[in-house]
Amino acid sequence: MARILTGIQATGTPHLGNILGAIRPAIAQANDPANESFLFIADMHSLTQIKDANALRENTYAVAAAWMAFGLDTERSVFYRQSDVPAAAELAWYLNCFFPVSRLELAHSYKDKMAQFKDSGAAASVNTGLFTYPMLMSADILLYDAEQVPVGKDQKQHLEFTRDVASRFHNAMGTEVFVLPEAVIQESVMLVPGLDGNKMSKSRDNTLNIFDDPKALKKRINKEIETDGTALEDPKDPDANPVHALYALIAGAAEAEHMAEQLRAGGYGWGHAKKALLEAVVDGFAAERDTFNRLMADRGALDEALRAGAERAEGVAHEVMNRVRVALGYGAR
Ligand code: TYM
Repeated sequence: MARILTGIQATGTPHLGNILGAIRPAIAQANDPANESFLFIADMHSLTQIKDANALRENTYAVAAAWMAFGLDTERSVFYRQSDVPAAAELAWYLNCFFPVSRLELAHSYKDKMAQFKDSGAAASVNTGLFTYPMLMSADILLYDAEQVPVGKDQKQHLEFTRDVASRFHNAMGTEVFVLPEAVIQESVMLVPGLDGNKMSKSRDNTLNIFDDPKALKKRINKEIETDGTALEDPKDPDANPVHALYALIAGAAEAEHMAEQLRAGGYGWGHAKKALLEAVVDGFAAERDTFNRLMADRGALDEALRAGAERAEGVAHEVMNRVRVALGYGAR
């Protein structure tokens, strides 16, 4: 029996990268009766970026609906909003006091944000939450004694920080209160490319939202994926842009190999490839799109599922926090 845990920020509707990198693998693990899983919406992490109560609430519903549309069984798994179990914030504070600033300064996520803001001349708007973000993430994981954390490759360093801060706590306090987690990263989907060929991410505005309607999807694929002007009859390199890579992730290896052969042979244009990609997205996720839309129209059901999950999560968090508080000399609550 392994305890699995993972979270997704409430920064928007989960995109293909979130779905293939985290939601699908986590659900596959969660639905295995040998596992016990904690899946949550990291709405406190999103506060580092979103200062709009309505948007935060809507995004939270969209993330919840996406998990459920991909087959999450909310009876079997503990499914909750991060902000419903505020002990994570308490634990994050304690962890902050055990982790050196010099290590946090090396976080890729922080350095990326600094670089992005610097480019736009707004480095001062990197808030402290963004800087200490990995400690809140460590708290999310350690608070539930998680053993395995399915994530995309971009989160690997955060998992290293989590193990590091837990060990530092153990060494400093002379007692072992945390379980050291492992990252579970699936090779094939560890880095889903975005429409511009860089890592798919909300902040780069290069995402594919598979829940969009076919018309919007068509517009996005046609407009945002840049293809060169190689003549229709000429051979093409399948890796010249992300169309083929995205198609491979959705349609599977055999179909993708067929597309690659056609591109290399010539007489098959990028327009054809984009059309095949669009069909794969529209048809391949039709059932999930329907369920997502149905759930988004019934907030009561989402609220109820999250409320029940928070209660179960809080029970586990309470026990772990008591271990931590006793180790620190504060006493159990
Ligand atoms: P977030 O919300 O940025 O992304 C959620 C999950 O999706 C994965 N992912 C990708 N995988 C492959 N290709 C991509 N292009 C891609 N983009 C995103 C991410 O690796 C992640 O697994 N800090 C986390 C949220 C979090 C968390 C946690 C995760 C908070 N607490 C505790 C695990 C455990 C984040 O920002 O993910």
